[in-house]
Amino acid sequence: MRSIMASVETLLWVGVWMSAFSITTADDSAPKPENVRWMSLDFTTILTWTAQPSSHSFTVQYAIDNSDWTESQDCIRIPETKCDLTEHLKYYDRSFSADIQTEHPDVLDYDVENLPHTYSPPFNPYRDSNISAAEFSVKQLNETTVLVNITDPLTAIHKKNKQLTIRDIFQNDLQYKISYYKSQSTRKRDIESLTSTAEISGLDPGQSYCFMVAAYIPSRAKPNQNGASSLEQCTEGGGGILQELSAGAWVGVIFLVVILIIILVTVITLCCRKTNRNKSLQSTQLSAPV
Ligand SMILES: *[C@@H]1O[C@H](CO)[C@@H](O)[C@H](O)[C@H]1NC(C)=O
Ligand SMILES: *[C@@H]1O[C@H](CO)[C@@H](O)[C@H](O)[C@H]1NC(C)=O
Ligand SMILES: *[C@@H]1O[C@H](CO)[C@@H](O)[C@H](O)[C@H]1NC(C)=O
Repeated sequence: MRSIMASVETLLWVGVWMSAFSITTADDSAPKPENVRWMSLDFTTILTWTAQPSSHSFTVQYAIDNSDWTESQDCIRIPETKCDLTEHLKYYDRSFSADIQTEHPDVLDYDVENLPHTYSPPFNPYRDSNISAAEFSVKQLNETTVLVNITDPLTAIHKKNKQLTIRDIFQNDLQYKISYYKSQSTRKRDIESLTSTAEISGLDPGQSYCFMVAAYIPSRAKPNQNGASSLEQCTEGGGGILQELSAGAWVGVIFLVVILIIILVTVITLCCRKTNRNKSLQSTQLSAPV
């Protein structure tokens, strides 16, 4: 009996040892970071990658212009597959690279060389960060001229407690493309403005125009020159309220007018009947004492 128990125990231990061994073997196939991409909007810059699910973590290092690697303090042994590098890259006109290293979950002291790692493509925030759509207003100055006033989008970068706009960063490298068209016309016109406010003249008097703006950085490579397009804004046009009304509004106006006429007619009819009756009442009263 005793010997049977002993062999069962041995078997159990072998099982435990075997499964521990298989975990260690699985650890050897640590996932390699793949699909490494930069995502950057208004200088918020995030490195993303994919990896087979595992208990491994990742550490991100970055280097400027191929110089020494620096560990990103917020991205050491992280379980996530993304790393926010905004604070390190800022808006510098430099070429950054990153190296994503797969790490053992528990072991602290091991041979780094044996674990997979992946380099990112190079990234230059000043040249590659996307620019979001700008807000703007359109003010009619006179019959033929409008003022387009663009608010420079804010960036993720702060300097001396001030949040920088894209104008603070790009300065004279920043222009705006303003496109506009006359309502009911398909012909679009584009102008480039060096400043964030622009007067547009030569418009047809009394017409409604629609405007759109987008940041434009001609010093960048072609695919990265344009910021996102804003929503369009239209002027009223001087054509008066009658031209502005849509078909639906016209139906509403006619309906209201008809209702008003009906009410008026009803009120007048009721009033007249009442005064007529009063008159005849008065005349009977007046005539009574006579
Ligand atoms: C910028 O936007 C384009 C279009 O949405 C996208 O394909 C590209 O990956 C973006 N680039 C960065 C650095 O985020
Ligand atoms: C409209 O205003 C612009 C700028 O203020 C001016 O140059 C232009 O002569 C004006 N046009 C008319 C028709 O008043
Ligand atoms: C443009 O708009 C801003 C507020 O959004 C205002 O402070 C500024 O004076 C405007 N500029 C012009 C030229 O109207």
